[in-house]
Amino acid sequence: MTDRPLEGRTAVITGAGRGLGKAMAEGLAAQGARIALVDMEKDVLATAVADVEAAGGQGCALSVPADVTDTEKSQVAIDCTIDAFGGFDILINDAAMGPQFFTDNFVAHTPKFWEHDIDLWHRVLTVNAYGPQLMATIAAPHLVDRGWGRIINVTTSLDTMYLRGCGAYGPSKAALEANTRIMAQDLDGTGVTANVLIPGGPANTRMIPEATGFDRDELVQPEVMQPPVNWLCSTDADDISNMRFIAAMWDESLPREERIAAAGAPTAWAQIGSVAKRPGGWADAER
Ligand SMILES: NC(=O)c1ccc[n+]([C@@H]2O[C@H](COP(=O)([O-])OP(=O)(O)OC[C@H]3O[C@@H](n4cnc5c(N)ncnc54)[C@H](O)[C@@H]3O)[C@@H](O)[C@H]2O)c1
Repeated sequence: MTDRPLEGRTAVITGAGRGLGKAMAEGLAAQGARIALVDMEKDVLATAVADVEAAGGQGCALSVPADVTDTEKSQVAIDCTIDAFGGFDILINDAAMGPQFFTDNFVAHTPKFWEHDIDLWHRVLTVNAYGPQLMATIAAPHLVDRGWGRIINVTTSLDTMYLRGCGAYGPSKAALEANTRIMAQDLDGTGVTANVLIPGGPANTRMIPEATGFDRDELVQPEVMQPPVNWLCSTDADDISNMRFIAAMWDESLPREERIAAAGAPTAWAQIGSVAKRPGGWADAER
């Protein structure tokens, strides 16, 4: 097998200017993919593009400054990618505003929900839950037309979804997790899959401020995202949809099925939802 199995593929990665998004961009580029790096912070994109090109080669990376909550700019971001690379196959919704916008230290300082700035709450929900929906709405018809594609949404660990003191962060990620299940069901049979990928613990990015006191070496390192995202974007994962994967539990040394079982689970909380009563019962496709 070639050492650049993603040659010919193109990924749009939001939040690719730094942190986990940049690490995933570097990982996919090293496998031969071309990357459109979308981030609202133009300044960080120049360095990120240079780092991604160092991993994947000259011309493999495109800087796309855009706010993923802005309809017009998000459309332009997708159009620019298609103009530059002739199309795209993968959308990774990674851009987000983290808990640090609500508290300088979510370990020791957990403001009550009524103490948060309500406009900030709204903005974080918009960036983290609506942004991925907007990007996926624009991207999906293109991916479905091509008959092959990936939507990968970065949510968070279940216990972070209800972590106190972090305002809209957890609820916004719970919304994205649930929406991934809807996306996967709607895309079923199109050749396009929808999955969730999470680091599996606080990661060594600016989202986990120094004030938390965590030993930075003990945090999940951003590169941990690379093996599972590379695999999710490979043809070996063509039959994998509606799943969530924990990057820190992804063990490349295991055989495929064991690896999937160790790090994967259904998206959202399907097993809890299935106990709800429904007149006439549930069809499998509705789960
Ligand atoms: N760091 C962690 O501990 C951790 C844990 C679980 C999940 N996650 C998730 O992983 C993803 C990446 O997190 P990270 O730690 O790398 O964060 P980060 O803050 O280092 O990077 C996020 C990037 O998103 C960009 N961004 C924010 N809002 C945007 C918008 N409206 N439009 C375009 N770009 C925007 C930022 O400019 C930034 O470059 C996020 O979805 C986060 O919720 C992180």
